[in-house]
Amino acid sequence: MIELDGVTVRFDDVLAVRDVDLTVEDGEFLTVVGPSGCGKTTLLRTVGGLQDPTAGRVRVNGRSPDAARANADLGYVFQQHTLLPWKSAVDNVAFLREMAGKPGDREGARRLLREVGLEGFEDARPAALSGGMKQRVAIARAVHLGADILLMDEPFGELDEITRERLGVEIRELWRAERKTVVFVTHSVPEAVFLADRCVVMESDPGRIVETFDVDLPRPRTDEVYSGDAFQEQVAAVRGVLHDARSRSSTVGRTLTEQ
Ligand SMILES: Nc1ncnc2c1ncn2[C@@H]1O[C@H](COP(=O)(O)OP(=O)(O)OP(=O)(O)O)[C@@H](O)[C@H]1O
Ligand SMILES: [Mg+2]
Repeated sequence: MIELDGVTVRFDDVLAVRDVDLTVEDGEFLTVVGPSGCGKTTLLRTVGGLQDPTAGRVRVNGRSPDAARANADLGYVFQQHTLLPWKSAVDNVAFLREMAGKPGDREGARRLLREVGLEGFEDARPAALSGGMKQRVAIARAVHLGADILLMDEPFGELDEITRERLGVEIRELWRAERKTVVFVTHSVPEAVFLADRCVVMESDPGRIVETFDVDLPRPRTDEVYSGDAFQEQVAAVRGVLHDARSRSSTVGRTLTEQ
């Protein structure tokens, strides 16, 4: 479980995150959308112990984020992949798990690479992979770590639409089979709704949560769900709130430049 209590993160005069209260239950799939610069990455980094809050408290499985990370409770897929250039895809996937002191499992690493569509590239170095392929290695690496909680920051950013949809379904399946807790940041509203149990909309300057939607669509999420009216209505509702948040953000920007 992730618990954020009055979390604020300030960088000089930027209030990247203001007073966020949020609880993510075990096994929940939470998605986060919001305009660029509204603090999504900062919020995720705070949960992951990579950024200290200026105020407030973060607990991950009842521990500090640092302790949770040390215990390999948290897996992180960054907005930009962070693969080791001198290691092959399979070694990159296996590395974090071994660093965390868990038994090595090359076969498992190879299986995950196949599952994310990288069969035949297991022994390739990152330089020989496209941006989307590198992101898929990073996803496989986070899953292979075996953490209960996956923090994913636009993990599908560099992927084409078909691969995005396929990997989205796979991530959800994995989440269902292994009861992971997932916090997933995306700029795609349909993706956010399709994947989520709950979807959080943020606005910027200061970065805060403006609305939380319970996504009450049938599970498993199938093609029928995707093309159904209930899904479209939910997407429209989230888009409406996001649109309002965007226009408020740009008004703030204008006011500042006019001053
Ligand atoms: N290390 C830092 N030092 C100073 N300012 C920062 C730092 N990290 C983020 N910021 C600022 O905090 C705000 C939120 O940034 P953040 O990266 O969290 O946004 P985001 O919602 O992830 O945006 P995007 O959708 O573009 O990835 C921005 O104004 C950004 O300039
Ligand atoms: Mg970001």
